[in-house]
Amino acid sequence: MERTGKELITINLALITFIGFTTLSQAAISGSKHDFSNRPWAEGQICLPCHAPHNGIDVANAPLWNHEISTATYTLYSSPTLDAVPGQPTGISKLCLSCHDGTVAVDSFGGQTGSYYLGPNRPENVGTDLSDDHPISFVYDTALAQADGGLYDPTVQLSGIPGATGTISQDMLFANKLECASCHDVHNTYNNMKLLIKSNAGSGLCLTCHNN
Ligand code: HEC
Ligand code: HEC
Ligand code: HEC
Ligand code: HEC
Repeated sequence: MERTGKELITINLALITFIGFTTLSQAAISGSKHDFSNRPWAEGQICLPCHAPHNGIDVANAPLWNHEISTATYTLYSSPTLDAVPGQPTGISKLCLSCHDGTVAVDSFGGQTGSYYLGPNRPENVGTDLSDDHPISFVYDTALAQADGGLYDPTVQLSGIPGATGTISQDMLFANKLECASCHDVHNTYNNMKLLIKSNAGSGLCLTCHNN
């Protein structure tokens, strides 16, 4: 079918608008440590190493996931004063660990086996021993806050995340659980150091949940 000049202009405008929006939505992740688009293995794509619109990997609670998942069993955080009950990493945290525990290559996505690992000497490698990391994958609810005494009730306290008006529970937890993404913003929306969801200047991030 032949297109008239007018039709072609309409199509071009639609394309420009589309590209304009795409650029906008990528403004924050673009150029961040999670922008792999200039690596030879990323096919110039920003989202693809982590997400696929079709035929991705089926992970519970994951947003259209495309990256191979780790099968590691983790050593969990424990301490005599801990009231929470951390379990093996769940949902969202498993997505982070699919690159950050160092056992699966960063470029293992879309069914291809990669070869670029976050090696053991990289600061970004958290490993499979999580006992020296902030506990994750546990329920943080009113009962936990009452048992602990040093935590805000996650259902009433404002999170203080820029632009957010909800509670800790609404803005930072995933199915009521504390996960890696409770503190980190994988898409770099807020442009804080170390992809934090909120600046930790003056321990501001810690003091969002801990009241002392
Ligand atoms: C380095 C991995 C990574 C890259 C690259 C990435 N994402 Fe994500 N994305 C995640 C993870 C992990 C989650 C779940 C955690 C969360 O929601 O904070 C997520 C969640 C999402 C969600 C659902 C929750 C929300 O924030 O709305 C959408 C939509 C999304 N990503 C879109 C994109 C788009 C579009 C791109 C490319 C411009 C992209 N992502 C790039 C890892 C990534
Ligand atoms: C596709 C693999 C992949 C996934 C999935 C992924 N990351 Fe990363 N991330 C990396 C790599 C690779 C780097 C280091 C990039 C570099 O230095 O070039 C990195 C860097 C980081 C950094 C350091 C940023 C800085 O400014 O120094 C943080 C924090 C981080 N990731 C947290 C997360 C969290 C939290 C999640 C899940 C919500 C996640 N990542 C998911 C691959 C990934
Ligand atoms: C309670 C908040 C919190 C949770 C939960 C959390 N982090 Fe972090 N993370 C931080 C803070 C604050 C920093 C920056 C200061 C530092 O390096 O200790 C950081 C730093 C990092 C870095 C950068 C290390 C470096 O030196 O470049 C990576 C990578 C990272 N976190 C990944 C993760 C992953 C993966 C998870 C889940 C397994 C996770 N984080 C859970 C708060 C958190
Ligand atoms: C999203 C909320 C949240 C944020 C942000 C947060 N924490 Fe936590 N933290 C918790 C919860 C909930 C527990 C579990 C407390 C318990 O069960 O005793 C915990 C546990 C801990 C523990 C272990 C306590 C013990 O008894 O072993 C330490 C230490 C800790 N956090 C320090 C920090 C630091 C430092 C930061 C800032 C980098 C931080 N937290 C940020 C919610 C948070």
